[in-house]
Amino acid sequence: MTQDPTDSDLTTTEARFIEEARNRGELYIEQPYGLYSEQNHATWRRLYSEMVPKWNQFANQKFLRGLDRIALDPQAVPRLEDINRFLEPLSGFKAVAVSGYVPAYVFFDCLRRREFPTTVTIRSARTQTYLPEPDIFHDLAGHVPMHTGRVFSDSLARIGEVAATAARLARDVWPADERLERLESALRAMARFFWFTIEFGLIREKGELKVYGSGLLSSSGELEHSILSSRVQRRPFRLEWVINQAFEIHHYQPLLFIVDSFEQLYTEVGRLEQWLVEGLLDNVAPCEPAIGTDDLESFLDAA
Ligand SMILES: [Fe+2]
Repeated sequence: MTQDPTDSDLTTTEARFIEEARNRGELYIEQPYGLYSEQNHATWRRLYSEMVPKWNQFANQKFLRGLDRIALDPQAVPRLEDINRFLEPLSGFKAVAVSGYVPAYVFFDCLRRREFPTTVTIRSARTQTYLPEPDIFHDLAGHVPMHTGRVFSDSLARIGEVAATAARLARDVWPADERLERLESALRAMARFFWFTIEFGLIREKGELKVYGSGLLSSSGELEHSILSSRVQRRPFRLEWVINQAFEIHHYQPLLFIVDSFEQLYTEVGRLEQWLVEGLLDNVAPCEPAIGTDDLESFLDAA
């Protein structure tokens, strides 16, 4: 099938289908599978084959097992429905196609329901290792294999519960500017927690350091760098550091946090919620990430 790649395929930032869905205000979409061009599939194939040796060397065992359990296709962009057929019976999670940016509360609330908002576009063939915006390779090959594990997927759903608690607590804060300040701080803490665990987390596994963060597992350059480079500080996970630690998204991470097990991750999500309830997230250290108005409003709407 020959298509004009700048017009009708599913390349990130160039896909007309996505632009039209967004213009119609549609967040949840069907994966328009027929629109993937041969070039889109070739990009998937190339990324996948680049990652395999690195996954084998640096990824945690649950991820490697997860790849097999969802039967991720190395040769072509997968269909979400095919993946979900394997995934749902394992952990109750499923990948749901979205048209792009998902406001923070909506995103977390999806996790609470065990739905993972999944980008359907794929980076252009020109993009090599780093892409600031998510694409289907990041979402399906970086995140979804982790969702096959029971404790990890419970942790993810529990992060969604923390967001629901944050919205509920905000409802009772008055005056409005105080509510906004506390909510912004709680969101910053939650974003940092998510970043340093789900996206960039390291885990100690049988004495060896392995990767479970999806931002690393979908980046052939940074995956190796995260474990081997002397330019990375690797520290034990401490909740008080993580929620106060700024991060920047446009370069390799200089600081990563290590958990000893996924049980520890689950426990830390519980502590995050406890700290939220106790007011310990009301005024975390400022700086990155900036919290967008849309994200704040999504929490206020939920409240
Ligand atoms: Fe991600």
